[in-house]
Amino acid sequence: MKFRIYIFSCIIGFFSSCILIPFQEKETNDDLLLAAIGILANRSDWVWDLPPGFPVPNVPSDNPMTKAKVELGRHLFNEKLLSGDETMSCGSCHTQSLAFADGKDFPKGITNVAHPRNSQHLSNVAYLPRLTWSNPRMSSLELQARAPMFGESPVELGLSSNAFLDKLKSKSLYQTLFTNAFGNADSAVTEQNVRFALASFQRSLISGNSRYDQYAFRNNKSALNSSEIRGLNLFNGEVAECFHCHGGFNFTDTSFHGGSNEEFFYHSNGIHDDAYYAGQPSNKRGLYDLTGIASDTGKFRAPSLRNIGVTYPYMHDGSFMCDDANNPDTLAGAGKTKTDCARDALTKVVDHYRSGGQNHSAKDSTLIRNFTISDSQRDDMVNFLLSLTDEEFLTNPKFASPF
Ligand code: HEC
Ligand code: HEC
Repeated sequence: MKFRIYIFSCIIGFFSSCILIPFQEKETNDDLLLAAIGILANRSDWVWDLPPGFPVPNVPSDNPMTKAKVELGRHLFNEKLLSGDETMSCGSCHTQSLAFADGKDFPKGITNVAHPRNSQHLSNVAYLPRLTWSNPRMSSLELQARAPMFGESPVELGLSSNAFLDKLKSKSLYQTLFTNAFGNADSAVTEQNVRFALASFQRSLISGNSRYDQYAFRNNKSALNSSEIRGLNLFNGEVAECFHCHGGFNFTDTSFHGGSNEEFFYHSNGIHDDAYYAGQPSNKRGLYDLTGIASDTGKFRAPSLRNIGVTYPYMHDGSFMCDDANNPDTLAGAGKTKTDCARDALTKVVDHYRSGGQNHSAKDSTLIRNFTISDSQRDDMVNFLLSLTDEEFLTNPKFASPF
């Protein structure tokens, strides 16, 4: 396979120099040779294997996708040398079997202090023009990686210098991987290249083979049962209004849909009221923490609902959890399977929306307002949400930790 792609790129390289010859007569042969080499060196050997219905993601021009960079990024994502005390990696809070979420309400970094928000899943993160729950400045994966690596408030991986680069450089594994991805390892092991490779790996995390996808895009009309289809129609209908904020192929309104426009939105879905936010510290009030605009209080990006069946607890503070006999809000209910827990938590989420949520002045009250559906219709909606799990994504060895 690799061999075939290489030949193909050579033909493109050769072919474009053939086209140049007749039209640029003043060029010397040397110039032409250099141009051809440039085309070959800058080419991306990456072939997007996209599910039907998915546009090609935007990739920054200074960090094209290559197979070698994605492979380096997969290693770095799971590399504990990327933390201050060598105990954690990105993968510690982003676990593949949970669609790269972590099943906790508030994860802890190396100093054992809780993060103010819940770990996000990374399915289709390539399409998000703004990252994190509510920070509009987080506009690329290349930039975002700095926060977990070096952030001090909160501390996640707790790196305080670039000393980790020397440790990477001393391993023959990374000498090979960096050389493959960026050329000579001695000069290529830089903090920027670490972030660029992490970004490339994360862009490769495409998820689009749930039963819903098989039903909607792969013409397998038996992939969803009748309850799930009723739930899908409720989700996309004007009674429940879910699709306004969680619409499109990626189930979020903040997603690149193709074309050139990048749109991003923040909403309050009414999970807390004004008094609650007034009592919160300065890192727990959503978009307001970044903008200082009162009407931004409690606003967050609507998450993609892909793989929602494995990413509980839900919301930025994990406030919708599982139940068991002793506890109405627990992370892993005693005697419950993961699907039971997801079902419990999603039932609470849909109940929240149908009741119209809390009395919050920043709420999108035309969309978040009480509506009438029966309990069995609510269960249909939960069944539909559970059909968004893409088992292939959760187990694909291409995305797994190499260690
Ligand atoms: C201590 C746990 C923890 C670690 C370690 C961690 N993350 Fe995260 N990650 C989070 C949390 C919490 C959020 C939500 C951040 C926020 O809203 O401020 C998040 C958000 C993200 C997002 C945004 C996803 C989205 O939907 O917008 C990306 C991308 C990401 N992390 C990548 C990484 C990478 C790359 C690393 C390693 C360099 C890493 N994370 C390490 C907990 C962690
Ligand atoms: C006005 C926009 C809006 C509408 C309409 C809306 N949501 Fe949301 N949804 C959000 C926002 C914003 C969040 C994140 C809120 C937070 O974390 O505080 C969210 C969170 C969620 C989550 C949790 C996701 C996660 O990863 O934690 C689920 C599930 C969900 N919504 C389902 C639905 C369903 C089902 C409907 C329709 C009944 C719906 N939403 C309608 C904006 C909306």
